[in-house]
Amino acid sequence: MGAKILNLGCGTRTSAATINIDWSPQVRIKSSKLGDKVAKRLLSGERLDNYNAIEGNLMVHDLRKGIPFESGSIDAVYHSHVLEHIDRDGIDGFLAEIKRVLKPGGVHRIVVPDLEPLLRGYLDSLSAIDAGHGNPEAHDDHVASFAEQMVRREAAGTSQQPPMRRKVENTLLGDARKRGETHQWMWDRVNLAVVLKQAGFIDPTVVDFKTSAIDDWTSTGLDQEPDGSEYRPGSLYMEATR
Ligand SMILES: C[S@@+](CC[C@H](N)C(=O)[O-])C[C@H]1O[C@@H](n2cnc3c(N)ncnc32)[C@H](O)[C@@H]1O
Repeated sequence: MGAKILNLGCGTRTSAATINIDWSPQVRIKSSKLGDKVAKRLLSGERLDNYNAIEGNLMVHDLRKGIPFESGSIDAVYHSHVLEHIDRDGIDGFLAEIKRVLKPGGVHRIVVPDLEPLLRGYLDSLSAIDAGHGNPEAHDDHVASFAEQMVRREAAGTSQQPPMRRKVENTLLGDARKRGETHQWMWDRVNLAVVLKQAGFIDPTVVDFKTSAIDDWTSTGLDQEPDGSEYRPGSLYMEATR
């Protein structure tokens, strides 16, 4: 039997090689019997394309309630752009759950937006402006690069919906914060390694989108596009061992 790998907070980025877990409407719809028919009526454009790309073993679950697997039963746990959506005071519990389900020696692979280049870009912009060759009009974009995702109210893609559908969707599903879309914290190579060590993980190491201790990782296609490019540029990739 192949390795048992969890893809926590998969969204529509799933793989046939992983157990893909999320609580999002898309994953709920896909997991239901009439899913594809409902999706055709409710979704359009990029949202429908992303929905249609969902594959593999799906599980609808709220990760705030733990990870629904037995202790020491999983070979690797992966999550991409999920950790920053978890309340800062919920991180220790989330990491403890991942450690609990992993086998000894199991791999924990984390992908997060990297705070470091965003803040370096912000400081470089300030320095350039101070030196007289920067662009003050573009400076707010650097603030947005780390702040916008924390304060955004409207959920992604909702504003492009027809007005009635937009209203119904917002009433039923709530705003971006309620849907878990906003960032609750930001991570870099230092604070991420510290929380991993504090949770008992061994040797947190920065890797890249193509490098992993998980066998044949690139074949999952989770961090890489079919043309070989990086799925989420600007990310920090870190792995640690149970
Ligand atoms: C930014 S998306 C990342 C999706 C995917 N991993 C990727 O890299 O494209 C964050 C995902 O985490 C999921 N998520 C956030 N909080 C969750 C929770 N408590 N339980 C399950 N999934 C959650 C959201 O539904 C969303 O699909």
